[in-house]
Amino acid sequence: MTGKRILLIVGGGIAAYKSLDLVRRLRERGLNVRVVLTEAGAQFVTPLSLASLSGQEVHQELFSLTAEARMGHIELSRDADLVVIAPATADLLAKAAHGHANDLASTLLLATDKRVLAAPSMNLRMWLHPATQRNVATLRGDGMIFVGPGDGAMACGEFGPGRMSEPLEIVAAVEAALAGDTVIPLPMAQPPVLAGLRVIVTSGPTHEPIDPVRYIANRSSGKQGHAIAQAAANAGASVVLVSGPVSVPDPAGVQTVHVETARQMLEAVEAALPADIFIGAAAVADWRVGAALVEKLKKGASGPPTLGLVENPDILATVASHARRPRLVVGFAAETEKVIDHAQAKLARKKCDLIVANDVSPATGVMGGDANTVHLVSKGGVETWPTLPKAEVAQRLIAELAALMGEGGA
Ligand code: PMT
Repeated sequence: MTGKRILLIVGGGIAAYKSLDLVRRLRERGLNVRVVLTEAGAQFVTPLSLASLSGQEVHQELFSLTAEARMGHIELSRDADLVVIAPATADLLAKAAHGHANDLASTLLLATDKRVLAAPSMNLRMWLHPATQRNVATLRGDGMIFVGPGDGAMACGEFGPGRMSEPLEIVAAVEAALAGDTVIPLPMAQPPVLAGLRVIVTSGPTHEPIDPVRYIANRSSGKQGHAIAQAAANAGASVVLVSGPVSVPDPAGVQTVHVETARQMLEAVEAALPADIFIGAAAVADWRVGAALVEKLKKGASGPPTLGLVENPDILATVASHARRPRLVVGFAAETEKVIDHAQAKLARKKCDLIVANDVSPATGVMGGDANTVHLVSKGGVETWPTLPKAEVAQRLIAELAALMGEGGA
């Protein structure tokens, strides 16, 4: 870690005083810390304190001619191994989520090609506000890493989530982030490797009704499938995404069809054929209630009801054996044990070209989380990738599929 460069953005919050200690702790570990202080941040700590502790000039102005002469904002944003925002205020997160670039900090966050670690700090109502939570979800999806906030008494007198993590917790998060790959490949820099091709992707869970108010579901968020659809579109493909009920936004430039049940998903997929590539990332319910009730099921004296499950159609297997079979049929395997063995069995049983296997045991946090560790299982063998943000898994997968299309198969 020694010698790695941190660009620390200090936002305007009472927790800015902790950033002084954070600079000291990072430097104790041999890290080079360059500080950007926002206008609001300068209301809480002085540039002089930060300059003394970091041993470097503190950057404050976007349009500082002297700074531009020596180091432009683009260079400043790229010359780090990791960008850290502490405190990350609601305003800084909102700006980053919406791509604003109207001051030095927001411009750096938009221009950087490095991973960003944010330590949020704000009043608990601001943190819990749906707008902030939406922004955080967007930023997580974009690959931003979060540490905290913690619960506790706040400077404003309230108690709850919103306290910035302690400097040593942030240092631990910095160390963990630096241990991984900190360069973010630029989505727009994705070569148009799928130009002219048509891709169908399924994503999210399916909901299988029990009665008008209850359903069988699973914990899939749609993050992985949606990221794949987005990466395919960024690579120039014409993409149809068939999504179960999710709260993630529809990917840009993708035709998204919203469905609820496995049978609706199959119908939408078949309607979208023909295609060159099919990627089944949805967590399709294997079973549904044979006779879903029209009226709400009542609690009765005869005890709990029997649901009478019947098997759903297998969308992946259907597409793989379809008269209009896409050239590449890619399935996923969500397993909690013997991940590779089960994935190999699914590859053969469902007759697909490639299976992307992932361990969805609760401890992995894969279902609903922002990162994934996948194994590519084909007849040719098994390739394991490091743990990556789902957007990067998606980009790599698309590059892999483009290569397979070029080779004429899997
Ligand atoms: O949505 P996220 O929160 O981002 O989580 C991502 C994920 C874990 C859901 C995703 O990475 C994943 O593993 N998706 C497949 C989930 C699943 O249902 O796996 P499975 O092993 O049960 O099914 C194997 C394959 O058959 C899958 O491609 C699945 O889409 C498909 N299938 C399964 C049943 C069925 N009736 N029809 C199908 O097409």
